Amino acid sequence: FKKLTDLALAGKRVLIRVDMNVPVKNGVIGDDTRIRASLPSIEHCLKAGASVILMTHLGRPTEGEPKPEDSLAPVAARLSELLGKAVTVSDNWQAGLQLAAGDVVMLENVRLNKGEKKNNEELGRAYASLCDIFVNDAFGTAHRAEASTHAVAKFAPVACAGVLLAAELEALGKALQAPARPLVAIVAGSKVSTKLTILEALADKVDQLIVGGGIANTFLLAEGKTIGKSLAEADLVEEAKKVIAKIRARGGNVPLPSDVVCAGEFAETAAATLKNVAEVTANDMILDIGPQSAAELAQIVAKAGTVVWNGPVGVFEFAQFSDGTRVLGEAIAKSPAFSIAGGGDTLAAIAKFGLTDDISYISTGGGAFLEFLEGKELPAVAILAERA
Ligand code: 3PG
Repeated sequence: FKKLTDLALAGKRVLIRVDMNVPVKNGVIGDDTRIRASLPSIEHCLKAGASVILMTHLGRPTEGEPKPEDSLAPVAARLSELLGKAVTVSDNWQAGLQLAAGDVVMLENVRLNKGEKKNNEELGRAYASLCDIFVNDAFGTAHRAEASTHAVAKFAPVACAGVLLAAELEALGKALQAPARPLVAIVAGSKVSTKLTILEALADKVDQLIVGGGIANTFLLAEGKTIGKSLAEADLVEEAKKVIAKIRARGGNVPLPSDVVCAGEFAETAAATLKNVAEVTANDMILDIGPQSAAELAQIVAKAGTVVWNGPVGVFEFAQFSDGTRVLGEAIAKSPAFSIAGGGDTLAAIAKFGLTDDISYISTGGGAFLEFLEGKELPAVAILAERA
């Protein structure tokens, strides 16, 4: 695909699809990471003498029924602070936009537009008519084929990738397409079912697959262990066995915990008991990995060439079950490996343990990051490639 940084921009109207889908509560932005991540492309355009039109979705509103909380006003206000210049929000852009070089305007929440979610071509043409150059910089929304990510790219005079999108794809490509070995993936979370396609795709690639949370419990079941009341999916034990067998057949491994931190219930105040996996009883709930397991995983990560991290290995939100995720996260941060992390829970853990600056690349993608790990083609990227 074409890249924004290779194009002449002076005097051009540049339409950038960003992902500024940030958490907003009562008009206050909880985390502005995605807004800041969009700055390089915007600033690049402004410096080059272009006018900038931004579009993003916010949340999942009902199209055609705008509510106050759907408005991008708080997002535009934060962006204006970061850029140090006015950013207006337009809700009647269909009537045309009057822009001078250096201006920044945002189209109101695109998901309020009829046809946005359905990738409507007329809407795509309407967006495209606003610009000379369309830039997709919304990695977080690259797995969605919607009018502002896909149809617009078909009809814009030029369609290219922005700075963030290009950086995300480069980092993910480096980690998964030509990784420095050993390649270690950490896939954790409550359910195997939501991450089964990722586990299966990674089984063909990784040298070590570290599983955590309910996924690890299902894998422990697959190895014949007792997990008591722990969260698991007994009906996916056969799939777990296949993933383990596939990786072992390639000379890799799926290291499962040898010790675990258990409780009688899932609660912030629950008493934590350290046990060997063999000692887990019917009344136990596994909520973290134990220190011996954490040290083993830290060793694996220390020797890795590449680490891909999605998901905490314990209930890190509760202090007594947070050590496993902290120790593993610290080991990733210290490791010379190229490390990439993505997903909401993972980013929350990284922020909580102060590891942000020591992970090689932190993705802004949630669902998009997961679909990349699955090996799926991202439609918003595919259309850029077609246009090039
Ligand atoms: C995200 O937050 O993962 C992206 O902005 C996509 O949002 P969506 O899941 O509502 O399409």
